[in-house]
Amino acid sequence: MCGVIGYVGSKPCARLIFDGLKRLEYRGYDSAGIAVLDHGKIDLVKAEGKLVHLEPRLVELPGGATMGMGHTRWATHGAPTARNAHPHLHGDLVIIHNGIIENYRELKEQLIKSGVEFKSDTDTEVVLHQLHADLDRKGDLKTAIMETVKHLRGAYAIGIIHARDPGKIYVVKQGSPVVLGAGNGENFFGSDALALLPHTNRAVFLMDGEFACLTADSIDVWDFSGKPVRRDPQVLNWSAASADKQGFKHYMLKEIHEQPAVMSSMLSRLVDLKSNSFVDKETGIDALDLGRVKNVAIVACGTAHYAGQIGRYMIEEFVRLPANVELASEFRYRNPCIDSSTLLIAVSQSGETADTLACVKHASERGCQVMSVCNVRFSSIPRASDAVLYMEAGPEVGVASTKAFTAMVLSFYILSLAIGEKMGRMGPQAHARLEKSFDAMRRLPSLVDRAVNAAGVIEEISHKIYESQNMLFIGRGASFPVATEGALKLKEISYIHAEGYAGGELKHGPIALVDRHMPVVSIAPRDSQYEKMISNIEEVCARQGRIIGVGDLEDDRFRSICEHYIPCPQVDDDHLQAILSVIPLQLLAYYAADMRGTDVDQPRNLAKSVTVE
Ligand code: M6R
Repeated sequence: MCGVIGYVGSKPCARLIFDGLKRLEYRGYDSAGIAVLDHGKIDLVKAEGKLVHLEPRLVELPGGATMGMGHTRWATHGAPTARNAHPHLHGDLVIIHNGIIENYRELKEQLIKSGVEFKSDTDTEVVLHQLHADLDRKGDLKTAIMETVKHLRGAYAIGIIHARDPGKIYVVKQGSPVVLGAGNGENFFGSDALALLPHTNRAVFLMDGEFACLTADSIDVWDFSGKPVRRDPQVLNWSAASADKQGFKHYMLKEIHEQPAVMSSMLSRLVDLKSNSFVDKETGIDALDLGRVKNVAIVACGTAHYAGQIGRYMIEEFVRLPANVELASEFRYRNPCIDSSTLLIAVSQSGETADTLACVKHASERGCQVMSVCNVRFSSIPRASDAVLYMEAGPEVGVASTKAFTAMVLSFYILSLAIGEKMGRMGPQAHARLEKSFDAMRRLPSLVDRAVNAAGVIEEISHKIYESQNMLFIGRGASFPVATEGALKLKEISYIHAEGYAGGELKHGPIALVDRHMPVVSIAPRDSQYEKMISNIEEVCARQGRIIGVGDLEDDRFRSICEHYIPCPQVDDDHLQAILSVIPLQLLAYYAADMRGTDVDQPRNLAKSVTVE
């Protein structure tokens, strides 16, 4: 969850590392620090809170230092204070760490018995002292690292500098993400490629159980037993500009506005709209043995889980196979009925979410075929999968996921149609169904563009609800996961308590919450569930609930029962409609949060990439 970055080269590095941390701040932002090595001496600065508090302290670092590393923290062990902020220094050794050392208590007890005094409450500090002890025993850092990792249980990406071994940064990986960046006469490491993009697009991906030594001119990689590993750099296709705000007030707003372009570019890569066919190599299904598949399990967290719920409806509809969708954090601790006939689909924007990754590993061990739907290339989940559909939606920096959600829904749409067709499971109407779907996909980007550009009316409505304490979101069919996603968006960035329910479920309990103060965002596109949904909305009206409707521009009947109405483009496809219906909810959450003055891109207590369980 934390962000790590390091540099070794010939440029003054304090500012460079700070700027890299800014690009990683979405990963964690409760404290930060930087350490540099100059003329055999380690200097470090740390500050509680966001990076703005660290910036004034950069002047305390030697201006000529050309190697160092920085860390921005999402606290797991120990409060978010300067004392617990990384880097952690002991003697000539300084380290930064992203991850969790699960056995830190027992290691700490042993180290305390041997006379070590701890200066922080972090799990990281045990790594520092263990390494220091192993370095004393073994004499050289590479051997000491190989010794130390034998003691560690958990997940870690660790950067290490030793003042008596200048010009070298060691990077160790087990379970937590880290990327090495190959430059000319300079090398880098970072939690993800975003931090490195302004400097290089050549990345070396360490695998779990490997460590590397970076100098200005070399990158050497070994496995934990010391065996050299050859790993060539991969060229990344994201540009540094794609991770900038480009004039928008927040990343989230920019990312909402990128959705029409994301839909277009996904369609042009994943399907052939002229011949109404699928590009199997890009959808990833050519890597699957579909003949084996008898059931589908979808696993994901947060927004990706809601996209997976819509995905389940699509798999059931187009592939006609039993499909389950589950939170990755639950699935991995059960004894799910999966085997070699199961296709497990793991959905993740970052490709690094710890629980989802664990499900992928677990399912592979049980003989399942694993497909992932991810955004970040070369991330851990795709690397552990048999097949991958890359969304290629570009970097998503706002902690609230927006364009990734719509890209996931479109991915599922394409994937389930492609699998259904390939397996011959779409029935006698297959041709007509595919024609209809391709027609809807052709119209999708311009409809998404219209939905995004209806921001004005949504901003006005946000003025009426942004002071609410509670809100409900309701929908049926694919609009039910859309409702839950709308509620998640609102709560995570505006801190308004919100819940999403299936329209038909309301009268089984939640309707007790409805009174004249309760805004109820009701999603009722003109789909197969429309009539039932209107009845559910009438039930809320009868209890004086304040209906904020999301529906067809021309739907005067629905509009007439709403206090406020958000016209939303319609696509004549129950599943694809979810992409259009969610956009007003993203905008509603965005404007409500902005009016409440919250930190939209970096809401409290959250981090973008959840790499701990
Ligand atoms: O990177 P992932 O898609 O695996 O992330 C999953 C969730 O952590 C993520 O969707 C989270 O719920 C977002 N903050 C929602 O906006």
